[in-house]
Amino acid sequence: PMHSTQLTINGRRETVNADIRTTLLDALRENLNLTGTKKGCDQGQCGACTVIVNGRRINSCLSLVASHEGDDVVTVEGLADGEALSPLQRAFVTHDAFQCGYCTPGQLCSATALLKEIEAGEPSVVSNGEIILSEEEIRERMSGNLCRCGAYNNIVDAIVEAAA
Ligand code: FES
Repeated sequence: PMHSTQLTINGRRETVNADIRTTLLDALRENLNLTGTKKGCDQGQCGACTVIVNGRRINSCLSLVASHEGDDVVTVEGLADGEALSPLQRAFVTHDAFQCGYCTPGQLCSATALLKEIEAGEPSVVSNGEIILSEEEIRERMSGNLCRCGAYNNIVDAIVEAAA
């Protein structure tokens, strides 16, 4: 059966009319033509489909769009401010944090949410009142986003820079 879902995507109110079994990932790509979000495994294992829902990152392939009534969704298309890349996006460019680029939208959304977690004081490592996010913790917190090109070191470098 078809279902109508209203949600906010990158600051715009949208209505998605789709089969009730449609994933958020397919709704973004097929119904809304937001193809920046990528489908890798479609099984919750690679993170290519990561988007930010109500401030939290999720694998959009594992979530039905019908379950997102009223939610606030940010995709890679919503990270820049017009033509101006976000500091994290700039850091990805500076540090060559991609090769083929297929995982990049998911990496960016995941790391954007991670930086918000840091702002919210969620990292576990605090020293002298200052939040210290070790490379190891960044790797741990980014472990849901696979990169088959193995650009992990550069991705971590970019996140470290953006977090500074
Ligand atoms: Fe969703 Fe791989 S496509 S985790």
